[in-house]
Amino acid sequence: MDNSINLSDDTLSKIDEVVPKYPEKRSAALMVIHLVQDELGAVDDASCEWIARRLELQPINIKELITFYPMLREKPWGRKHVRVCRTLPCALRGSYGTCKTFEEKLGIKEGHVSEDGEYSLEFMECLADCGQGPVVIVDEKTYENIDGKTAEKFADLLIDGKLDESEDFHSYEDSLTQETKN
Ligand code: FES
Repeated sequence: MDNSINLSDDTLSKIDEVVPKYPEKRSAALMVIHLVQDELGAVDDASCEWIARRLELQPINIKELITFYPMLREKPWGRKHVRVCRTLPCALRGSYGTCKTFEEKLGIKEGHVSEDGEYSLEFMECLADCGQGPVVIVDEKTYENIDGKTAEKFADLLIDGKLDESEDFHSYEDSLTQETKN
């Protein structure tokens, strides 16, 4: 089987499982793109061509999806990916200041990855926790009420690798686990 982009056996078998579920191979494109991105971190030109061959399409059919949907990427994010909500409820509570603080502290503009590949920053639409803004997500963990001032401390802990053990910031997901234990 063509595996020129070195996908794991697990991803290959998920792709083999998902494609026949659709009446036309083309309809499986988004699912396959997600599976490839989940493993490789992005869908570059080689991956685009591979997916197109797998689904008997042209690479442009895949490329147009990747460039259309904001959650799909041609280049991987950093090892630590920081998202800040920019939608009105969070914006009114200071998320523009939060993002600016992160830009300064991490030394990157929003939408970019640091040169060493360690951090990336995304200023994006609603992160689905609108009552507790500004909302920040680091990788898979959600932090609430991170305004411009708080963001300085938050960014320092992130850079020092001490965010997870900090007494000052508890992610929404960790709080849930804590509650379940108590
Ligand atoms: S508006 Fe920020 S999480 Fe919804």
